[in-house]
Amino acid sequence: MESVARLFLFLCFALFLLSPCRSDPDPLQDFCVANLQTSDVTVDGFPCKQTSSVVSDDFFSTALSKAGNTDNIFSSNVTSADVRSFPGLNTLGLSMNRVDFAPGGLNPPHSHPRATELGLVLHGQLLVGFISTSNVFYSKIVNEGENFVIPRGLVHFQYNMGKEKALAITTFNSQLPGVVVAPLTLFGSKPAIPSEVLAKAFQVDQQVVNQIKSKFGN
Ligand SMILES: *[C@@H]1O[C@H](CO)[C@@H](O)[C@H](O)[C@H]1NC(C)=O
Repeated sequence: MESVARLFLFLCFALFLLSPCRSDPDPLQDFCVANLQTSDVTVDGFPCKQTSSVVSDDFFSTALSKAGNTDNIFSSNVTSADVRSFPGLNTLGLSMNRVDFAPGGLNPPHSHPRATELGLVLHGQLLVGFISTSNVFYSKIVNEGENFVIPRGLVHFQYNMGKEKALAITTFNSQLPGVVVAPLTLFGSKPAIPSEVLAKAFQVDQQVVNQIKSKFGN
């Protein structure tokens, strides 16, 4: 029995090492407050500030204290406390967003290449859904005080179907989860993806593609 358990542990460990799906690496020191100013050194993440110049404020942030302005085409706004706005997070492997929604607001289909997302609805009610790589759609209406989880890299959205504003807090196991917003990626990239490629992909006329592109600055 013991040897079976040991074999299982070994297999888990081997799979873990081989897996391309790992969260941020473990830190090698207490902290490494990001020096965002350094431009001549590029590393995976950000270089550390000198410990002698690290201050208390490096470990506190007001990035999420104010609601984002939802007066835009999606009627939602994502505000990030990631390593770029909160340098104390550098090497610590986690970050947080607030997502504000006007009534009818949508955080459009998107994915985070480097993190799993754990969300909490603080106010209101959201339809939250994601699509697995087997193309199965999982969704639920999430109420105030309830959680949801979005497995790493999968396309997902949150939609405020209610008549009130909504607010969600989302947390990530990466200091910089990254975001690929489906409509912006496909129709708003610079330079633009050739319309014939998108017409073929979506099985519509190029005219339709151009119309969508025009909504996203192309
Ligand atoms: C989100 O809110 C911030 C703060 O009000 C604002 O500066 C930004 O332009 C907003 N983003 C969008 C996409 O509306």
